[in-house]
Amino acid sequence: KSINNGSFTWSSPSNIALVKYWGKKKDQIPENPSISFTLDNCKTTTKLSFSKKDNQNEFSFDVFLDDEKKDDFKSKIETFFKRIEAYLPFLKDYHFKIETSNTFPHSSGIASSASGMSALALCLMSVEKELSEAISDTLFIQKASFLARLGSGSACRSLEGDLVVWGNHAEIDGSSDLYGVKYPFEVHQNFKNYNDTILLVDKGEKQVSSTVGHNLMYGHPFAAQRFDQAAENLSNIKSILKTGDLDAFIALVESEALTLHAMMMTSMPYFILMKPNTMEIINKIWAFREATNSKVCFTLDAGANVHVLYPENETEEVQGFIKTELAIYCQKGEYINDKVGFGAKLI
Ligand code: PMV
Repeated sequence: KSINNGSFTWSSPSNIALVKYWGKKKDQIPENPSISFTLDNCKTTTKLSFSKKDNQNEFSFDVFLDDEKKDDFKSKIETFFKRIEAYLPFLKDYHFKIETSNTFPHSSGIASSASGMSALALCLMSVEKELSEAISDTLFIQKASFLARLGSGSACRSLEGDLVVWGNHAEIDGSSDLYGVKYPFEVHQNFKNYNDTILLVDKGEKQVSSTVGHNLMYGHPFAAQRFDQAAENLSNIKSILKTGDLDAFIALVESEALTLHAMMMTSMPYFILMKPNTMEIINKIWAFREATNSKVCFTLDAGANVHVLYPENETEEVQGFIKTELAIYCQKGEYINDKVGFGAKLI
């Protein structure tokens, strides 16, 4: 088909890993499988407008964030386009206008790469669908996830919900290194509508980009053990998710978060990405759990912010605790209440 111009808009959420992806091979292939909760409120909305152009020798696009032209995003998108060109032959036929906005504040320390890259990948797939033969919904999402992975690894886990696995794992049917798949097994009621409150401890630029971080796993003294451990944890989380064992969930999730940071502390060069307030929060969460029987726990990304995870039936209690005892450790007292969501939407 030949189409001169058009536009598509998708919104796509962020996600938070329970078993972490840290370390990759060539072509964005993960060293270990991972699983994440898809989020709900933290998302990126991207409008992709396309118009046919004459010169087909190079990529042509403009990027806007909240209506402001962003030339500093161009090299990232250029790299992404180069990686996906082989799979989307129309990329050089059009000029693209990429208009994007996030629901979470700028430089909040929340990575926008997962939501941003998945939203853009979905918009590009909508163009592909318009131009070529019919494609099933399943294949559409699978290919969009495949493309999102080439933008930012964890982005391939943001298209669907509520739990997504990325990376080949013998016990998880359909799992692949190339794209994320919906977690295919039974999940206990305890994990439905799970909450994630994101405490904004450090809103600055990331101290270590995830590209640099993943590369630190090359030649890392504990790399092989870590990759095995992640695969084991993915095996173990299956029965936890099935039986609703919240204590086992806490132990697995917190251990994963601390292991991710331990990898960064034991690489060369080494980094400490937690801040004193990250530690204050972790200790407060542990004390609260001791004192109350609460099943609240924490996880971390590759930064100082803390994701506070808790079941739906504790919403009021834990949000009260966060407000009175944890908010003081956040920059300007800011945090974001989010919960598990169900993936991207065409708008
Ligand atoms: O998708 P990337 O390359 O930004 O890596 C993200 C890695 C972690 O967020 C630290 C863990 C994960 O699995 O999401």
